[in-house]
Amino acid sequence: MEESETMEALEGSFQLKGGDFMDAGAASKEMRTVLANLGVPPETIRRAAVSAFEAEMNVIIHAIAGTLHYAVEGDALKITIIDMGPGIKDIQLAMKEGYSTAPDWAREMGWGSGMGLPNIKNNSDGLKLDSVPGEGTTLEITINLKGK
Ligand SMILES: Nc1ncnc2c1ncn2[C@@H]1O[C@H](COP(=O)(O)OP(=O)(O)OP(=O)(O)O)[C@@H](O)[C@H]1O
Ligand SMILES: [Mg+2]
Repeated sequence: MEESETMEALEGSFQLKGGDFMDAGAASKEMRTVLANLGVPPETIRRAAVSAFEAEMNVIIHAIAGTLHYAVEGDALKITIIDMGPGIKDIQLAMKEGYSTAPDWAREMGWGSGMGLPNIKNNSDGLKLDSVPGEGTTLEITINLKGK
C-alpha cells in the first residue's frame, strides 16, 4: 500500500485509551472524509463510520489501550482494531445481541446495550474477532466500497 502518495493518504492510525472519551470518534470522522473524497456512496460511508465508532468505543469501554488502523485497499476498506485488555473469553457470547459486561460508568453514559458487535456485523461485509483472554483483542472489519 505504499506504492504511491495517493495510496498512502488513504490510510490512518489512531491511538485509543481505556476510559478516554476525548478522542472518541476521531477515526470514524477522518474515514468519512477520505471515503467521501473517493466518491464512496453515503450509505457505505455510514456503515463504515458506524462500524469504526462501535469498535473505538469497545476499546475505550472494555480495554486498557489500543490502536485503530484503516486502509483503503482496492475496492475494500479494512479497519483493524488491536487492543491490550481483558480480552474476550467467549466470542460467540460476546457477539450475541444484548450481552454486555459494560461497567456502571459506561452504562450511565448510555453504553452497554450489548449491541456494538452485532451492529458491526450488520453494517460490515466481514468481521473477524480474535482474542486472547488476559492479553487483548483484535477485530478486523471489511467494508466493500463497490457494490454489495
Ligand atoms: N475490545 C474488547 N475487549 C474486551 N471485551 C470486549 C471488547 N469488545 C467487546 N467486548 C465484550 O463483548 C461484549 C459485547 O460487546 P458489544 O459491543 O456488543 O456490547 P457493549 O460494548 O457491552 O455495549 P454497547 O456496544 O451496546 O454499548 C462486551 O460487553 C464485552 O464483554
Ligand atoms: Mg460496544
